[in-house]
Formats: sequence, structure tokens, C-alpha cells
Amino acid sequence: MRFFSRLVCPATRVGSVLQKELRREIACCQQHLKYCMVAVIKCLLSILLFIDFYPVKMIKSSAKIASQTPKTTEGILDAVRDLARGYFHGARGSHDWDHTLRVCRLCRRIGTAEGVDLIVVLTAAYLHDIGRSCQDDAGGTVCHAEKGARLAESDLEQLSLSENQRQNILHCIRSHRFRGSHQPRTPEARVLFDADKLDAIGAVGVARAFLFAGEVGARLHSDVKNIEETRPYSIDDTGFREFKVKLCKIRQRMLTGEGRRLAEERHAFMEKFFNRFLEEYRGER
Ligand SMILES: [Fe+2]
Repeated sequence: MRFFSRLVCPATRVGSVLQKELRREIACCQQHLKYCMVAVIKCLLSILLFIDFYPVKMIKSSAKIASQTPKTTEGILDAVRDLARGYFHGARGSHDWDHTLRVCRLCRRIGTAEGVDLIVVLTAAYLHDIGRSCQDDAGGTVCHAEKGARLAESDLEQLSLSENQRQNILHCIRSHRFRGSHQPRTPEARVLFDADKLDAIGAVGVARAFLFAGEVGARLHSDVKNIEETRPYSIDDTGFREFKVKLCKIRQRMLTGEGRRLAEERHAFMEKFFNRFLEEYRGER
């Protein structure tokens, strides 16, 4: 019996150890299964949250953009004024932000008298000289009206305007230049053209002509015989030269009734000023 019990007991002990190992393995497997299930549930939740969250986020974002886009006339004009002002940091005094604001005031006055779309003409007025620094930096070889229209395209996308209004504004900018190749075809373009030219004549025009001459390093006056042979952006690009080659011709180019009336008055003052200027320069008075 003792002999048998010595043979059976080790077998029983081995079986018992195996059972314990098996139970431990099963418990371990159950634990892993729990972890797996938790991971699967987390994955499913993430997918569900993504599907649910993303469209909501997009809708919220679109609503936010829509709420930031101004719809009223004054809201649009405030937005375009802020956009345009950014182009004038460090601009030269003769074509700075103040010139743009004077042109806007004239556009409002002439535009009201002519009964044009004020959103179009004022938006174009704010943006009309945003390409000016490119022309000045290139010594006059770049057309600021063409450049300005190209720059304005992306700015106009941000405003609540119809496609017709956008195209009209771009045309206004492109055709506002006195020496440009585009003729103003719309009533709004004619108003901007006149307003911009009016700011080049009269007392303000004379002051700006001498300011520009100073910016390009010109003399106070150049006594050359043939002014047509002198070059722009040179030492001979004086205030009087500007009067002879451009400013004295502006009143004949006006395109609106109100513009013509204001131009006649400003031209008369300018002629009187330059006559006196030459008399004083020659020592005659
Ligand atoms: Fe201008």
C-alpha cells in the first residue's frame, strides 16, 4: 500500500499543479479578452464621434464664416476700407492713404449726384491705388492700375458682392489711370476717374505735384526750353512739369457733369497759382 501511495501521490500532485496552471491561463485569457473588448469599444466610439463631430464642425465653421461676412452697405465698406488700408504702410505722401480717403469723399459726392451704385464706386475708390507702391518701386515701368486690379481680385472674393459688381469694381480700378490704356465704360468707372483726377488739380493738386517732385528728388523748378523732352522720375520732374504735361489737360478729360463743374473751378485756381509762381521765380514780382 505504501508502495502504491508513493506511486499515485506524485501523479496527483502533478495533476493538481496542471489544473492550477490551466486556471491561471484561463483567467489571463479572460483578462486579455476584456482589454480587447474595451479597445474595440473605444475604436467604435472614436469612429462614431468622428462621423458625428466632423460634419458638425464643418457646419459650425461655415456658419462662423458666413456670420463674419458683412452684408450691409456700411459693413461691406468698413471691411474693404480695413483691407485696403493695409496696402498703404510706408506709402509716399503724394499717393498715400489720405489721397484714397479724399478720392472716396469726392466719389460719394459725385456718385450721389450721378445716381450710381455707391457700393461699387466706393469699394473701387478704396482699392484704386493699392498697386501704387509697385509702380513707384519700379520707377514708373509698372502700371499701378493694372497691378491694383490684379491685387484686388482676391480681396473682392471676401466681400458679399454680386459677380457684376465685382467685375465693375475691377474695371473701375483698371481704367482710373489718366495715362492708362483702358477707357472707363461704366457710370461708376467714370465717377472714380473724375474723383481721382480732381484730387490732382486745384490747391490740393498743386501741393501734391510739389510733394511728388520732392519724393523723386526733383528741383523746385527746371528752366528747360522744351518740357516735353524731360523725363519723369528725374531731377527735372518738377511740380511745374507735372502741371504742363498732365494737370492742365485734366479738365478736358472729365466724364461727369459734377466732375466737370468742380474741375473748371480747380483749374482756374491752378493757372493763377502757376502764373504767379513763374513771375516770382523770374524775380518779376
Ligand atoms: Fe489715385
